[in-house]
This record gives sequence, structure tokens and C-alpha cells, in this order.
Amino acid sequence: MQAIRKSVFLLITLSLLVSCNGTSTAMKDDGTTQTRKKVVGGGCDGCELMFVGMPKNIDHIDTSAGWNEKGQKLAISGAIYKADGKTPAPNVILYYWQTDNSGVYSPVDGMAVEARSHGHIRGWIKTNPQGRYSIYTIRPAPYRDRSSPAHIHISLKEPTINNEYYIDDFQFDDDQLLTNAIRQQADNRGGSGILKTVKRGNLELGTRNIILGLNIPGYPR
Ligand SMILES: [Fe+2]
Repeated sequence: MQAIRKSVFLLITLSLLVSCNGTSTAMKDDGTTQTRKKVVGGGCDGCELMFVGMPKNIDHIDTSAGWNEKGQKLAISGAIYKADGKTPAPNVILYYWQTDNSGVYSPVDGMAVEARSHGHIRGWIKTNPQGRYSIYTIRPAPYRDRSSPAHIHISLKEPTINNEYYIDDFQFDDDQLLTNAIRQQADNRGGSGILKTVKRGNLELGTRNIILGLNIPGYPR
């Protein structure tokens, strides 16, 4: 019983000691403390590849390698806001990676070996002082086995958070593979990623505003 009480006490102590700078402080049995990095967003397989080949200088507008390839030209733009949903969040790096027009993450010669699994259509933006960003790319095709709706993955790196984390993929409201069941299962990390696009000539336009921390586990408040 004493051991259980001690564990409960330790759990309460740990939760009280969680700080808002992305670290937590654990108290050990001998009374000393240990500071650990806290993983915001619960971890992400592949998000760390955002640092492979990442340019030193990143603009708030990016044009992917896919832009000049076969496929429906797509422009996605919007703003990233802080957790209050209204203050623009500048200097947030958004990394995206996607399949090509045939549904494959297709690497090309010369790519870093570690990043080949993300294919060659990948890129970065860093939000401007107004929190805004734009991406010019092509609409990805779904996987060849049609097991998932078409999507563009996203990993975010905020200036004041230790680790990168993922938010909901960009998806497409008119995608027949985007069933009601899949929509209902969405985590809406950063807000919904489903784009309701419109056509302007040969260009498809989509807008997404992102709220940092929304539905992100472990996000500092
Ligand atoms: Fe994927």
C-alpha cells in the first residue's frame, strides 16, 4: 500500500513539475531531480527527415520539384496561428512530402539516402511575419493500391519547441477515397487538413489555416 501511495505521490509530483518549455522534471527516489526533454506531439515516424537536406534559408513560398512534372498543378496557401487561434506565428518551418502523379514516393538520383522514402517531391516553407505560407506543387495521386486517400504529409518545427511533430495531412474534400469513416477518425491536429479546392484556369487552389497546438498531445500551454 505504501508503495502505491508513493507511486501516486510521484505521479502527482511529476505532473506538477511539467514545465512549459518542452521539458519535464522527474524526482528520483533519492530526492534528486532529473530533467528530461518532453516530446511534443507524441513522436512521429519520419518527421525527423525534415532536417535532411533542409536549406539554410527558407522562404514562406516554396515551389516543389513536382510543379514542372505531369499532374494537376496545386497551390496551397494560408496562415499559421499561435494556440489562441488569432496571433500570427512567424518563423514556423513546415516540411511537406508527397507522392507523385502515379501514387509513389519516387526518389531521384542524387537524393540523400535517408530521405529517399519521402520521394523527391518535398519541400519547406518558413512562415513570414504575418504567419503566412504558400506551396506550389502538384496534386498527389493516392497509393497504387488505393488503400488511403491522396495526401501530403506535414512535419512542423516551431522556434520554441524542442522537437518536430506532425499535423493532419493535406487531403482533398473531393477525393472519393476520403470516406465519411476516415473523416470521422481524423485527429484534426492543427485543425482539419481537408482542402476544399477551387479551379482557376489550369491551377487548383486550396487554403488551410493552421492553429499550433490544437489537438497536439503534450503541447505546452
Ligand atoms: Fe503517405
